[in-house]
Amino acid sequence: MEFEPVTEGKTGMDKIYLSKKDIAGLIKKMLYKYKEGKKNEVFPGYWIEKKGLLKVVEELSEKEKSIYILDPKGEDIREIGIGKNPVFVVGDHLGLPQKELKRLKKMGKLVSIGKRKYFASQTIAIVNNEIDRLEDSGLLE
Ligand SMILES: C[S@@+](CC[C@H](N)C(=O)[O-])C[C@H]1O[C@@H](n2cnc3c(N)ncnc32)[C@H](O)[C@@H]1O
Repeated sequence: MEFEPVTEGKTGMDKIYLSKKDIAGLIKKMLYKYKEGKKNEVFPGYWIEKKGLLKVVEELSEKEKSIYILDPKGEDIREIGIGKNPVFVVGDHLGLPQKELKRLKKMGKLVSIGKRKYFASQTIAIVNNEIDRLEDSGLLE
């Protein structure tokens, strides 16, 4: 799924208003709109298609995005120097599958937000905060 919400224009016409509590319902609606072999735009800026993790990361890497794989064993996020338009790959409650991790490591860099393990949702919030702080202080490379 790709969420790139339209932020300009009229709510309900050009864009949809989305609060945190609407996300699960939105994902459910989008899953029903899946069409085999097609990238389907369900709402303005909200797409669904079926594609494996490696393929997604491979395509992003070809678009010259810097890929970072979140892992407590990685390099400290405060030390690596994050490039513009970074892509962060986060595991679920089981972590990233070992088989895919091997290939992911070839496409990106292992990055840590500390030695403790966090939930994926917490990890995303921490990473967003790190990027915001870098951007606010003009340090985003
Ligand atoms: C709940 S954790 C996965 C726990 C899983 N049981 C394991 O042992 O890998 C979910 C994801 O958050 C990210 N994560 C959690 N703690 C992290 C940390 N300290 N540094 C970097 N990424 C972290 C990783 O991508 C991880 O796969």
